[in-house]
Amino acid sequence: MMRIILLGPPGAGKGTQAQFISKEYDIPQISTGDMLRAAIKEGSELGQQAQGIMNAGGLVSDDLIINLVKERITKPDCANGCIFDGFPRTIPQAQALAEADVAINHVIEISVPDDEIVKRLSGRRQHAGSGRVYHIDHNPPKQEGIDDVTGEALIQREDDKESTIRERLATYHQQTSTLVGFYQDQAKQGANANSAPDYDKFDGTQAIDTVKQQILTALKG
Ligand code: AP5
Repeated sequence: MMRIILLGPPGAGKGTQAQFISKEYDIPQISTGDMLRAAIKEGSELGQQAQGIMNAGGLVSDDLIINLVKERITKPDCANGCIFDGFPRTIPQAQALAEADVAINHVIEISVPDDEIVKRLSGRRQHAGSGRVYHIDHNPPKQEGIDDVTGEALIQREDDKESTIRERLATYHQQTSTLVGFYQDQAKQGANANSAPDYDKFDGTQAIDTVKQQILTALKG
């Protein structure tokens, strides 16, 4: 069983690295952001509730997200573990995981300064169907604007406008960065008990491949 949490601000590279880890360990990436965007595309009630909040850079309610994740992890593809990408994002979400006895093996923090993120996200392109992520300079698709795997057109996310990115960063610093201390404390307390997650922090301003190698090495350790 390998359950991993990827923690870090919007645009730090969580989705990018989740794809590498998913391939290496054959466990699914659970991106609450991708799940919400799929719900918006379907026009479901959840999507309608989430759309305005996401476009304003805020957080969708804990109850909605916790139910979404609890249901997702019962699926057969999570039998050997999963990668939580963008979840938990608040202390109540982290507590809900613990209360549901969902043990975490590893918490990986990816750190990138705010100004770098604003520059980076304006170059992001995504394949809507799979969540596959590209960057026009740092990780371009083989053919401009086209997904490497399906040949479908890539999109730019609605919330990747500079004003919304700044709101998302403010939300991260106000509500999510507190999870850094939460999981570091757990790792310290459980260091001798074998029950707490390992905690590692990586400099997300390095090249994508460098971050990948460092994370995969840490996971093997
Ligand atoms: P979500 O989709 O989770 O967005 P996010 O956390 O803001 O993260 P991003 O997907 O923007 O960034 P990332 O860290 O995955 O970076 P990426 O790998 O794409 O959430 C969206 C919204 O949904 C939230 O604002 C909220 O409203 C709602 N939501 C989601 N989960 C929620 C929850 N749990 N609770 C409540 N609300 C929730 O990389 C970014 C770009 O940089 C890419 O172009 C990539 O190619 C490039 N890149 C990556 N690494 C590098 C590198 N090392 N060097 C250069 N470029 C790089």
